[in-house]
Amino acid sequence: MPVDVLLGLQWGDEGKGKIVDVITPEYDIVARFQGGPNAGHTIVIDGKKFVLHLIPSGIFHKNTINLIGNGVVIDPITLKREVEQLEAHGVEVRDKMLVSERAHLILPTHKLLDAASEASKGDKKIGSTLRGIGPTYMDKTGRNGLRVGSIKLDDFEERYHFLKAKHTRMLDELYHFEYTIEDNEFLEAIEFMKTLKTCKGEAYLADALASGKKVLAEGAQGTLLDIEFGSYPFVTSSNTIAAGACIGLGVPPQSIGKVFGIFKAYCTRVGSGPFPTELNDDMGEKIRKAGSEFGATTGRPRRTGWLDLPLLKFAVRINGVTDLIMTKADVLSELEEIQVCTKYDTPEGITENAPFDLEHATPIYEKHGCWQEDLTGCRSVEQVPASLKSYIKVVEDYLNVPMTYLSVGPDREQIMEYTS
Ligand code: IMP
Repeated sequence: MPVDVLLGLQWGDEGKGKIVDVITPEYDIVARFQGGPNAGHTIVIDGKKFVLHLIPSGIFHKNTINLIGNGVVIDPITLKREVEQLEAHGVEVRDKMLVSERAHLILPTHKLLDAASEASKGDKKIGSTLRGIGPTYMDKTGRNGLRVGSIKLDDFEERYHFLKAKHTRMLDELYHFEYTIEDNEFLEAIEFMKTLKTCKGEAYLADALASGKKVLAEGAQGTLLDIEFGSYPFVTSSNTIAAGACIGLGVPPQSIGKVFGIFKAYCTRVGSGPFPTELNDDMGEKIRKAGSEFGATTGRPRRTGWLDLPLLKFAVRINGVTDLIMTKADVLSELEEIQVCTKYDTPEGITENAPFDLEHATPIYEKHGCWQEDLTGCRSVEQVPASLKSYIKVVEDYLNVPMTYLSVGPDREQIMEYTS
């Protein structure tokens, strides 16, 4: 059986958690392949809101195994908290969750280094979530990191203190940063992690695929935050694109089946960096309020703007998207008119391709009539207003990929299969 991939086509926060939760019954295994607790996947079940930072969004389903893959970076403190919170709400976690031995650990000092690095950048800040993601991936590629598989080794604490000492030297001598370090909570969380099931993720998945199991790889953040293809340097530190699923899980490229690309009917971005279609006006504020656009991890207000088709096409191409899923069209209800960026005016001329330098690209818009109806009760294509169908058609034609699902609200029930 193939591995299907589900990922975001914009700057994250496209609503991936909810979609994974909805399509999970079709899969035996849901696997996270990159990122860490910088992600915040929100799922609303019977009006109750859950935000998952590390645990895959399939955890609410009885028969689904949830794998945290080798490409993920894990904060043991966050993981412990998340498991305990889910268990407190009656969600069974331990028998349904596996953690790859190769996943790297976020140390308390990684979070301090994140803060120190951001503080040193002044107005060039990335706008990091300060969860220690960048410094942990730096230690991974610098070959200094600690992995989940190391926690059972006799000399784990020694290794921890060795790496911590390197970090404190950097904090003192490079950043002159003031800090206090809380070892106890971290070491307690490490003890807690020893009680969780770990595995060789790549072997587990190879066996599962050979025995006909269906796997969904769940992406975090979004394509435009990818370390290679995102709006560098205002990006995260992992490969958020479909190819990242192969690396972050250890599955071969030919095992990839469908690639579900999720996008909002408009755009948002949290943190710094170029955002050509950004709305710095009342309209932007209206969309932010209507869409509750505040970060699930940090609570920061998200920047809002019109849909950007050239960037969406770029994302569709590098991910090989086979199925589109649009979320939050309900947020635009009541607007009289919306705009869509279809081209860019750049120093090299007019283009439909993603410009290298987004700072110096001016979006060219087309206007589109908006749907005035409340969509949140729509459950079938027949109930979708004509103006929204025509908006979807514009997107499908531009991207040359069909829309498969349309989500019209945060709840599990507020979604429909879509065909034009
Ligand atoms: P970091 O990955 O926490 O270092 O953050 C780097 C950039 O990615 C910042 O602009 C963050 O706001 C953004 N970012 C990281 N994770 C997410 C996410 O899950 N959703 C949206 N933006 C994110």
